[in-house]
Amino acid sequence: MGIWIALVLVAFAAGAAAQTCQCNTMKWATCDGTPCVCTVLIGENVKQPLNCSALIPKCFLMKVEMYRAKKGQSVRGAGGKPVESAFVDNDGIYDPDCESNGNFKAKQCNNTEECWCVNSAGVRRTDKGDKNIKCDKLVETHWVRLQLTHKPVTTPLNASGLKAAIANAIQTRYGNFDKSMVQDVEYDADARMIVVDVKKPIGNRQHDLANMAYYMEKDVKVLPLFKNDELKFMPSLGGQNVEMENILVYYVDEEPPTFTMKNLSGGIIAVIVVVVLAVVAGLLVLFFAQRRQKRMYKQAQTSEMATMS
Ligand SMILES: *[C@@H]1O[C@H](CO)[C@@H](O)[C@H](O)[C@H]1NC(C)=O
Ligand SMILES: *[C@@H]1O[C@H](CO)[C@@H](O)[C@H](O)[C@H]1NC(C)=O
Ligand SMILES: *[C@@H]1O[C@H](CO)[C@@H](O)[C@H](O)[C@H]1NC(C)=O
Repeated sequence: MGIWIALVLVAFAAGAAAQTCQCNTMKWATCDGTPCVCTVLIGENVKQPLNCSALIPKCFLMKVEMYRAKKGQSVRGAGGKPVESAFVDNDGIYDPDCESNGNFKAKQCNNTEECWCVNSAGVRRTDKGDKNIKCDKLVETHWVRLQLTHKPVTTPLNASGLKAAIANAIQTRYGNFDKSMVQDVEYDADARMIVVDVKKPIGNRQHDLANMAYYMEKDVKVLPLFKNDELKFMPSLGGQNVEMENILVYYVDEEPPTFTMKNLSGGIIAVIVVVVLAVVAGLLVLFFAQRRQKRMYKQAQTSEMATMS
């Protein structure tokens, strides 16, 4: 009798393990064994072990994407309809060098002779140079601005409830996230634009804004990285789910970047890294300038898409 109960319990345990041996935060991972170990291919026969209880570090994600792109494998969601904005995915991507914990190495060369320095989000913050370029340390991104455009809604959004709705949605979807980091939310109903500032105190190394922003970028562009890619980043407000259709991420680092202004824009993921003190004025100017130039943006995107195909 005791043996039977034990056997049943073992069977139960095995069943439960099989159920949960999967990687919710990385759909391309392979999981196996007891205890469950998940890995993902980041090179020919190079398996990167993953901690699937957390968001996968962006550096590993970029390696996976580069590897899959090289192999001609899809980097898109299986179920997600490709949308016009989906092409932006490859822009700004390179094959990064990662630390063993998933941090970016401060110096990146994309397997070429040309190198540059990046911030903790892996985004270039210096001009490109040769292999001898010096990058003393990895400079932390402590502020990201998410400029989201939402799809048309039936009832106008209640702007004063938006901040809480966004913070909740971020916490639900990207886990282990301190809601107080969602500091400012601006809303422009005519442009359907929501501007979200997510900031952490300078010196804070507990939270990583880059991973959260990267997962959100993928979610909005209909290429979710999560195993369950039917769910999306969708704030809920006044009984209405607000679906996003575009996102632009700006990065602000703890130290100002050193590249020349003319190299500042370019690519779809526009990258602005500004002096902390100049930032408020600067970004406001940009915000309004961009709204005026929305038409130009659209044209630029269309022509880039044409060259890609
Ligand atoms: C995996 O991530 C979770 C959540 O961040 C953390 O609590 C845990 O310590 C991590 N496990 C390992 C082995 O690093
Ligand atoms: C990195 O190299 C790949 C090809 O190896 C190229 O497609 C990509 O544009 C490069 N990215 C950067 C940022 O240089
Ligand atoms: C908008 O949201 C605020 C805060 O949640 C609430 O106090 C207010 O009544 C809402 N207004 C409308 C018109 O629903």
